[in-house]
Amino acid sequence: MYFSKDDIDAMPSRFRAHFVNSLSGYKSANLVGTTDGKGQHNLAIVSSVVHLGAQPPLVALVMRPDVVERHTLANIRATRWYTLNQVHSHFWQAAHQTSAKYSRDQSEFDEVGLEPEVIGECPAPFVKESHLKYAVKLVSEQPIEHNGTILLIGSIEYGEVLDDALCEDGHIDLGTMQTIAITGLDGYHIGSRLGRLSYAQPHVWPSPIDE
Ligand SMILES: Cc1cc2nc3c(=O)[nH]c(=O)nc-3n(C[C@H](O)[C@H](O)[C@H](O)COP(=O)(O)O)c2cc1C
Repeated sequence: MYFSKDDIDAMPSRFRAHFVNSLSGYKSANLVGTTDGKGQHNLAIVSSVVHLGAQPPLVALVMRPDVVERHTLANIRATRWYTLNQVHSHFWQAAHQTSAKYSRDQSEFDEVGLEPEVIGECPAPFVKESHLKYAVKLVSEQPIEHNGTILLIGSIEYGEVLDDALCEDGHIDLGTMQTIAITGLDGYHIGSRLGRLSYAQPHVWPSPIDE
């Protein structure tokens, strides 16, 4: 089916949201852990975490427009700290449930049955059940003027990864951890790796990396 810009504009809003959200393909499922700095924890699922660079280690996250109460955004602005926790197959439904509109004084950890864990100097809670998690410090907030979304750029400070998933060369095998991927607004998938390939060079067909 061919679709034009006019066709997209004419779609009913919920249909358009599902449709356009699906165009960017598989996305990582992460839970953002935050605190208001006064003892109230918050947890929210996001699909917009992207790698920005390894030196310095930076990660970005797109937040929805700040037009209603946004607990995660308010907490990050207040404390400058947040945690990113990859979702795996044992708690993907609980992770989805964190997107419900709980009130500010309700902790999604309690509501969905996940355990908060504070590690090191970051005051924001990690998800104890997650196999790959790291503390992030806000370095910059970039408003996206075209639609009111906000790009949060954070520096990766420290974290934990399941020993069995860490390869000798630094690659992390997400399959070992049963990490979940998201499609659209509500589709959840488990990855199935086809293989790893050697560094691509012109005129040299990549070869499989043995592990
Ligand atoms: C699959 C999925 C992906 C989501 N991704 C994002 C995202 O990348 N950015 C965002 O701001 N909200 C995202 N949301 C919505 C938040 O999870 C939701 O607004 C949540 O209620 C925010 O809670 P808070 O007000 O406690 O921060 C997503 C929701 C779902 C179900």
